[in-house]
Amino acid sequence: MLKEMGRTSQAVLVILYVFTTVKAFEMEIIPANRIVKQIGETLRLTCNTTGCASPSFSWRTQMDNPLGGTVNNYRTYSTLTMNPVSIVNSHDYLCTVFCGEKEKKEKSVKVELYSFPRDPVIEISPSLVAAEPVTVICKIPDVYPSHYLEVLLKKEEHVLHEENFYEDDSTNAENKTVRYSFNPTAEDIGKEITCVAKLPIPNMDFEPKERVTSEKLTANFGPQNTVITASPGNWPMEGDTLNLTCVTESNPPAQTVWRKHLADESIQLLTTNNVLSIPDAHFTDSGLYICEVTNLVTNKTEKATVDIVIQGAPDITELSIEPSTTVQEGENVSIRCSAEGNPSPRIILRRKPDGADLGPYSEGRILLPSVTFLNGGDYECVAENKFGKSRSEITLNVEYGPKNTMISVIPATAVKEGETVIMKCTSSGNPAPVISWKKKKTTGEPEKIYTDATLTIQNIKSQDLGLYECEAYNQFGKEEKDVKLLVQERLEKLDQMIPLIIAFSSVTAVAVPAVAILIYVSRKAKINGSYSLVKALRLKV
Ligand SMILES: *[C@@H]1O[C@H](CO)[C@@H](O)[C@H](O)[C@H]1NC(C)=O
Ligand SMILES: *[C@@H]1O[C@H](CO)[C@@H](O)[C@H](O)[C@H]1NC(C)=O
Ligand SMILES: *[C@@H]1O[C@H](CO)[C@@H](O)[C@H](O)[C@H]1NC(C)=O
Ligand SMILES: *[C@@H]1O[C@H](CO)[C@@H](O)[C@H](O)[C@H]1NC(C)=O
Ligand SMILES: *[C@@H]1O[C@H](CO)[C@@H](O)[C@H](O)[C@H]1NC(C)=O
Repeated sequence: MLKEMGRTSQAVLVILYVFTTVKAFEMEIIPANRIVKQIGETLRLTCNTTGCASPSFSWRTQMDNPLGGTVNNYRTYSTLTMNPVSIVNSHDYLCTVFCGEKEKKEKSVKVELYSFPRDPVIEISPSLVAAEPVTVICKIPDVYPSHYLEVLLKKEEHVLHEENFYEDDSTNAENKTVRYSFNPTAEDIGKEITCVAKLPIPNMDFEPKERVTSEKLTANFGPQNTVITASPGNWPMEGDTLNLTCVTESNPPAQTVWRKHLADESIQLLTTNNVLSIPDAHFTDSGLYICEVTNLVTNKTEKATVDIVIQGAPDITELSIEPSTTVQEGENVSIRCSAEGNPSPRIILRRKPDGADLGPYSEGRILLPSVTFLNGGDYECVAENKFGKSRSEITLNVEYGPKNTMISVIPATAVKEGETVIMKCTSSGNPAPVISWKKKKTTGEPEKIYTDATLTIQNIKSQDLGLYECEAYNQFGKEEKDVKLLVQERLEKLDQMIPLIIAFSSVTAVAVPAVAILIYVSRKAKINGSYSLVKALRLKV
């Protein structure tokens, strides 16, 4: 109970105290004390009162200079707005407040100004050519007060130049410029030039007090030291991806043009990239490549060249027969085989069946004068170098009329009546001759035609005897051959006549007169109504 009463009396005391302070007339300026502001920003000063029902305000500068701002009066306070704050606002400001007739109070604040709003700007002029003097200009915009300004020009970490403006007596923000000239070396190209500007105004709090700008030292030069690098090398293998890279020293970067020397001495424009990529390189990509680089500022052009030789196993590019792969006997034929490869391939042309080398291969062809059927067949061309070989085949088709027509009679041993005789006719020719048989009557006119090459007479009888003619035919001619089935009698015993069937054949080519040899050495003999064949003879013509 006693405790509660104590608290109550404390509360009453506090209320009384507040009541009395509210009643007192007071004023203040916000912000109080020193005001540091950058030129161009907005500054508002507030003159606030308490303890006065209707105060009246007045703002002044200490030397009665113009206020340089706008005043707004409210019931208990007044504002002075400087937007933007400028050098004319660099004063002590005094706020005077009257409360009624008698009461007057005043306070002042000092407005201090600076200007350091932006980083320096570096200009390197003129846009230089290596080894000529260069001037570095560092501009520090809108500095105030400039007599505190300190400027440092550096090349990387090395100080080139230092300058201060202690003697300056500028009265407003000014652009300050520092210049420095020097002779750059080639190594200086690309190095950083740094301008450090400091405004270390004592007893003034603002940030930043140091501003820094860097710029690379450039020079227009080149193109120079232009070289071509070939990847995987100057002698790539066929099928490789060949990259030719043109490297040059140039600023600004050079423009590149690739050209290639052609066999006819003309030049072909390839590309304007600095890398010339040839995927799947071919022998025909061998040659002299030229890279031409131009710097449009220095107006200089430089060239580099590289000789590229594509290596690889041979490729047969042509295997052909003139005048045609199908010829007739007597024609002059040439076989041509060409191959590409690097190193130059050795070319061998041979006839396939016997593998015979057709002899020295020169001038890209082999001549077969006046061909015969023996020249027909498959030919092989082999091209070879140290990387491998390649081969290709072609067939020479020599057409000719039937030749070597031959008849064979089987069996060679004796055939008895009633047995079988097989007569086979063969002939060569291109296209393959068509073979047919005819049996001639004694009158000479053909009796019967058989279209098979093999004529089989089963169960031979006397009426099968006679002249058989075989004909071999194709579009280039025909050849005939005949065979005569005869009966020869021979005495085995004195009273016995033994008939023999013998075959004689002869060739009748169209061009060659027939040599028909007919030997009729038998007499007709009929013993027991039958012939007995004890011996067969075959004669060849
Ligand atoms: C003036 O001062 C009073 C009391 O300290 C405060 O409440 C008020 O916000 C101030 N007015 C201004 C405009 O600063
Ligand atoms: C400083 O230079 C800038 C341009 O760089 C210009 O806009 C500005 O007006 C200059 N200030 C003074 C004080 O000359
Ligand atoms: C060639 O260049 C291409 C693309 O520019 C790259 O993919 C390839 O690896 C390069 N080849 C060689 C052999 O340098
Ligand atoms: C470069 O050379 C061309 C012709 O040779 C000329 O017209 C041009 O003015 C030159 N340019 C420079 C920047 O020297
Ligand atoms: C083949 O060549 C020889 C010699 O070159 C020539 O005399 C002959 O007339 C030619 N024959 C044909 C069919 O062209």
